[in-house]
Amino acid sequence: MNDYQSLINWYPGHMAKTRRLLQDQIKRIDLIIEICDARLPLSSRNPELAGMIARKRHLLFLNKSDLADPATNKAWIRSFRDQGIDAYLTDATKMRGKETISLIDKATKEIVEKALEKGVRKTVRAMIIGIPNVGKSTLINRLYGRSVAQIGDRPGVTKSNQWVRVSPYLELLDTPGLLWPKLDDQLSARRLCYIGSVKDDVVDLTDLTIHLLEDLCEIVPQNVKERFHISDTSLKGAELIESVCAGRGWLLRGAQYDYDRCCSIVLDEFRAGKLGRITFEKPLNLEGGEDGKND
Ligand code: G4P
Repeated sequence: MNDYQSLINWYPGHMAKTRRLLQDQIKRIDLIIEICDARLPLSSRNPELAGMIARKRHLLFLNKSDLADPATNKAWIRSFRDQGIDAYLTDATKMRGKETISLIDKATKEIVEKALEKGVRKTVRAMIIGIPNVGKSTLINRLYGRSVAQIGDRPGVTKSNQWVRVSPYLELLDTPGLLWPKLDDQLSARRLCYIGSVKDDVVDLTDLTIHLLEDLCEIVPQNVKERFHISDTSLKGAELIESVCAGRGWLLRGAQYDYDRCCSIVLDEFRAGKLGRITFEKPLNLEGGEDGKND
């Protein structure tokens, strides 16, 4: 048993029920828009979704692409398309509803045309799905221009489930399908904490921040040096976090290092993109990516 496996308990033990509910809902829709985080395109996808959606039409949005490395973004799109997945880079905070609607129209053209041959003008029904914090609500809000009901952070299907008409022949489920993240390996679980898809309050923040700093020192050493005013990015563990505290002046009385302040600011600054555009997982088609992960 490792540290992060206990996180599985963070989710209710009702995955089987959730899966059944989602499967039932998926039957009634024409298109799934799956959202993942472009910084973590493997670990921020739920591996069970593929089995649940089977032959349904499916779009994959690599969202928060504005926070991910541009060259790796392109490589991921190539990799997903090579696998026959209709994938796009998105920034849900800026995406116009019209853009999403035209991608949906393109993906569902065939079923609409088939219905037309039978004399029916079909209304397409779409649903947005993904793990927590990948931008599902932001995308829905952009699509129909007002705030959707806040949903909890537990996987499942929310009660509201209203169809909202976003264009003359397109209806969207007003609440997204919430999937559980992939917590079965330490590395994925930790990185899901970095991007906020697993909540901070279930992990040891100092441990998480040290891991994040160590990873950043590997990926963007120069940015770490400049942002945290440190000179040695080969430091590890407590030495690294203390050097960052000293660099930014996060000290308590008696020259003690202010770990709490350091953890909160380092995580916030990383999540806001202040350490640069970073992707933790690389696809196979990118030089240096051997198993789809950076390390
Ligand atoms: P969820 O429904 O999947 O749980 O995610 P949600 O839309 O609530 O988005 C989570 C956070 O990510 C929000 O920030 C949102 O603004 C931000 N976000 C969503 N898509 C993108 C994107 O493509 N790029 C960037 N940079 N950020 C994105 P927040 O700070 O939690 O809330 P807020 O202060 O922005 O409202």
